[in-house]
Amino acid sequence: MDDLRTRYLGEIAGAADEVALERLRVAALGKKGEVSLRMRELGGMTPEERQVAGPALNGLKDEINAAIAAKKAALEDAALDARLKEEWLDVTLPGRRRARGSVHPVSQVTEEVTAVLADMGFAVAEGPQIESDWYNFDALNIPDHHPARTEMDTFYMAQAEGDNRPPHVLRTHTSPVQIRAMQERGAPLRVICPGRVYRADYDQTHTPMFHQVEGIAIDRDISMANLKWVLEEFFSAFFGTTVKTRFRASHFPFTEPSAEVDIQCSWEGGTVKVGQGDGWLEVLGSGMVHPKVLEAGGIDSSKWQGFAFGIGIDRLAMLKYGIPDLRAFFDSDLRWLRHYGFAPLDVPTLHGGLQ
Ligand code: PHE
Repeated sequence: MDDLRTRYLGEIAGAADEVALERLRVAALGKKGEVSLRMRELGGMTPEERQVAGPALNGLKDEINAAIAAKKAALEDAALDARLKEEWLDVTLPGRRRARGSVHPVSQVTEEVTAVLADMGFAVAEGPQIESDWYNFDALNIPDHHPARTEMDTFYMAQAEGDNRPPHVLRTHTSPVQIRAMQERGAPLRVICPGRVYRADYDQTHTPMFHQVEGIAIDRDISMANLKWVLEEFFSAFFGTTVKTRFRASHFPFTEPSAEVDIQCSWEGGTVKVGQGDGWLEVLGSGMVHPKVLEAGGIDSSKWQGFAFGIGIDRLAMLKYGIPDLRAFFDSDLRWLRHYGFAPLDVPTLHGGLQ
């Protein structure tokens, strides 16, 4: 018994892992274990012998069980220590940064333009980018064979032979949304319509898709004077400095009279600065809405009149943020986007100075 005790307690103390411990438990206390076999021999002993051997064997059994449990706990502690040593975490490290996108200058400027004009009472309207030629041309007093149809380098939607739906185009300007707004809202009316427009053109200042914002104000006695005030207020708020405008007589089929509007700028040092100097830069088309256009929009031209204007948003973005090439706007070059993009939480507001 003493031999058994010494051997088992020694081996248990030296066991390397739980598997070895379990093997020792079976060898001593399993059905055919050495201690169990001894216990079975108790039956063949005299009562006197049994009285000595019985408690001694039970004591040994308890001792071995206790030693195994203690060793098991010690092994578990050691394993946990080892794991803790390996899997440590420095909670004082700075967090990992997530890549954050930026707001494209076109989106930013659209928001800015909208913030300024909404403050003047213009509501925002939107229309489809694929328009019937009626909305894009006829309703705007651009009849068939009118030179403006070809001047606008229109993209026509493919039309299968025998398809007798009216021809559709990618809208060449936001002016068709004027018509839809008049039809839907009637007079009096004050809306702006920002959105994408399309023309087959491509160079440093032209891309086949670009952005305009249309403005229209209809009431009983609206005049060119109101147009001029609105535009000067708009440009001054948008550029954050007083901006003079120059109206040049022009021609659009949908306005009469019509004016192209230039804003004051200087060209010194090879960069354009808006609101100073004695140079001029053309930025928009405008005029008094043609009576035929009012009628196409379902508005009685003997009672109502008003102005409309169309500005290139991309152009404004290039001017305000000093971006030289329009084509880069649509290249999706991440370096460009990171350089010219805006922080996503930097929402333009009038009280925030727009930037
Ligand atoms: N639709 C014109 C263009 O795209 C701009 C414009 C809008 C002119 C409204 C006059 C009035 O060139």
